[in-house]
Amino acid sequence: MSSAREREPIGVIGAGYVGLVTAAGFAELGSEVWCVDIDAGRIERLERGEVPIYEPGLEQLLKRNAAKLHFTTDLDEALAHARLLFVAVGTPPTYSGDADLSAVHTVVDAIPASDGHALVMKSTVPCGTGASIQRAFAERGKGGLSYVSCPEFLREGSAMKDFLNPDRVVVGDEGDWAGDAVVELYAPLGAPLVRTDIASAEMVKLASNAFLATKISFINEIANVCEETGADVVEVARGMGLDDRIGPKFLQAGIGFGGSCFPKDVNALKQLAGNSGYHFQLLTAVIEVNELQKRRVIGKLHKHLGGLVGKRVALLGLAFKPDTDDMREASSLVLSARLNADGAAVTAYDPVVAEEARSLVSGITFADSPLHAAAGADAIVLVTEWSEFLKLDWSRLAEAMSGELVIDGRNALDPDAVRGAGLVYEGIGRR
Ligand code: UDX
Ligand code: UDX
Repeated sequence: MSSAREREPIGVIGAGYVGLVTAAGFAELGSEVWCVDIDAGRIERLERGEVPIYEPGLEQLLKRNAAKLHFTTDLDEALAHARLLFVAVGTPPTYSGDADLSAVHTVVDAIPASDGHALVMKSTVPCGTGASIQRAFAERGKGGLSYVSCPEFLREGSAMKDFLNPDRVVVGDEGDWAGDAVVELYAPLGAPLVRTDIASAEMVKLASNAFLATKISFINEIANVCEETGADVVEVARGMGLDDRIGPKFLQAGIGFGGSCFPKDVNALKQLAGNSGYHFQLLTAVIEVNELQKRRVIGKLHKHLGGLVGKRVALLGLAFKPDTDDMREASSLVLSARLNADGAAVTAYDPVVAEEARSLVSGITFADSPLHAAAGADAIVLVTEWSEFLKLDWSRLAEAMSGELVIDGRNALDPDAVRGAGLVYEGIGRR
């Protein structure tokens, strides 16, 4: 289809976080990209040059490659121009914890029989999904379609960088033209390639996320034990992380992991194992530790303030991590609900999220600056470590507050700077 010098054109189905980053990334590498979404409003905004999500670097890349990017609600348009269709629709958790594959099935149903097209799965799906999609293709006379699993490992907030500098590229396929074409697309990035079978590629993604989540729950439990024993988890993590076999990343203790992937994928892997009769005990604990960790701040507030009825608590940050407007599974949701239930008056400030959060978190007042949030507060809780919170003038906040407690839910603040302003500092697992 394309000459050696020409880059393979592609289709991307789903213009969400993963889809848009994939589209912008491959356009940057030289491909023409047809980006399809069922949400007509979203496609109109994208055509006007508006970017519906906050992701550093994405808007610039979409602008720079605007001539190569085509936005449409019509799958046929993508099929007419591209033989590889990257699937990046959402796979949210169902009530039971399994992954909801209905959006993926919609795509599988919509794609017509063809000998020259392939679905390339970017969405995170349970191990075995590729095999069941291939069976569905065969049963419906669409056996000519190829299938490739190509999981995405990008992190929100640094997604563009992660796309362009991946630690590895994983391609699971049956050794046919489609797998070769996907490998070719990624070749300019020069990343280590893991070419394997479809089921193994699917499992690499789930196991990687589950391992990282386990690492976080592990250090959070160490932090909790540090609080009992007088050790400081930041020092402990530094000492552990210098061991090459452990490494320093994902050893930041705090008030738990959130986001669109870790909570969902850990649960989905546990559920997947359970469905085939295997009880994944370790992941059950990882999930439970994380749920308890999100609530730990409440205990700390009680310890310092006594009852919370009528107490004013300021939350700094709402997003599940900095540099994103994503509120999925954010610790702030659990925290604000618990504070409300305990009778506290909650004011929150987030540099990016505020508007969207209004519909997600009820019963809290939104402030337009950290100082405004701190006004009259008995306690401040750092929930998301946005960089602007690391440079706060604590003496000004201390003047505005009516109390003196600062809980650093991410161990991101300088305790000396906070204490220097006459405030009481408490982190997670800190001495
Ligand atoms: C991605 C992955 O695909 C998911 O599996 C992973 O675990 C998390 O990241 P994400 O990009 O965050 O999901 O999804 P979202 O931002 O919700 O976007 C999905 C898009 O797909 C939406 O714009 C939606 O309108 C679109 N969509 C959904 C379709 O185009 N067709 C459908 O049938 C369903
Ligand atoms: C994650 C994976 O890192 C990525 O590879 C995958 O594709 C999608 O899921 P993301 O959810 O965007 O990415 O963010 P990540 O930076 O991994 O953080 C997830 C959560 O863990 C956040 O709530 C963060 O605050 C928390 N975290 C992370 C910790 O509590 N401690 C750490 O040391 C690291």
